[in-house]
Amino acid sequence: MSKQFDPNDRYAQEAKKQGYRARSVFKLEDVQNKFRVLKPGNRVLDLGAAPGSFLQFISKVIGEKGLAIGVDLQKIEPFPESNNIFTYIGDIFEDSIYERIAKDFNFNQFDVITSDLAPKTTGVAFMDGGRSLNLNLKVLDVCGKYLKKGGNAVMKILPGFNEGELVGPAKKMFKQVKKTRPRAIRKSSGESYIVCLNKL
Ligand SMILES: C[S@@+](CC[C@H](N)C(=O)[O-])C[C@H]1O[C@@H](n2cnc3c(N)ncnc32)[C@H](O)[C@@H]1O
Repeated sequence: MSKQFDPNDRYAQEAKKQGYRARSVFKLEDVQNKFRVLKPGNRVLDLGAAPGSFLQFISKVIGEKGLAIGVDLQKIEPFPESNNIFTYIGDIFEDSIYERIAKDFNFNQFDVITSDLAPKTTGVAFMDGGRSLNLNLKVLDVCGKYLKKGGNAVMKILPGFNEGELVGPAKKMFKQVKKTRPRAIRKSSGESYIVCLNKL
């Protein structure tokens, strides 16, 4: 096995020990420790949410007065231990998914939008980066429509595109936009996160 990729590395082992569905949880935990994006009672929309470790973490931080809604192309198994998580199978590019959520919950403004969306990768940096940019431009569009004034957003980016194409419009929408690379990201991965604070 290559030294760069160990599917059972210490974060994967720790996730298993703590009952999380994926090691990605520690990326969001790191973002939360640095930027305090989530608060108790928040309503949170998580895009690209399967298998659900972000949702498990969000659920704990927001507590019983909060609400976490996850959307993914893939089915997300239920969370019997939490009563503040709801999930939808859907494509983030289909506006009908947001309309359904608004109808089911009788609101359409979230305090926080998180995205760990990942495109199907090809290994060709400019293609994967281009797909990641497309996903994130859609996330920004969703933030424009469904994120409250003062709200925060977190989005994962892959390398291979001009970050100005995403950060530029994000800076027009948020008071602060920062890039961070949580420690749990594998050394072999070029991904990082854009943290957008305080929607204008
Ligand atoms: C890295 S995984 C997310 C892991 C998740 N944050 C967790 O902690 O369990 C990325 C997800 O993005 C989803 N995805 C990619 N494109 C999508 C799209 N257009 N609409 C909805 N989900 C999408 C994939 O199905 C995949 O489950």
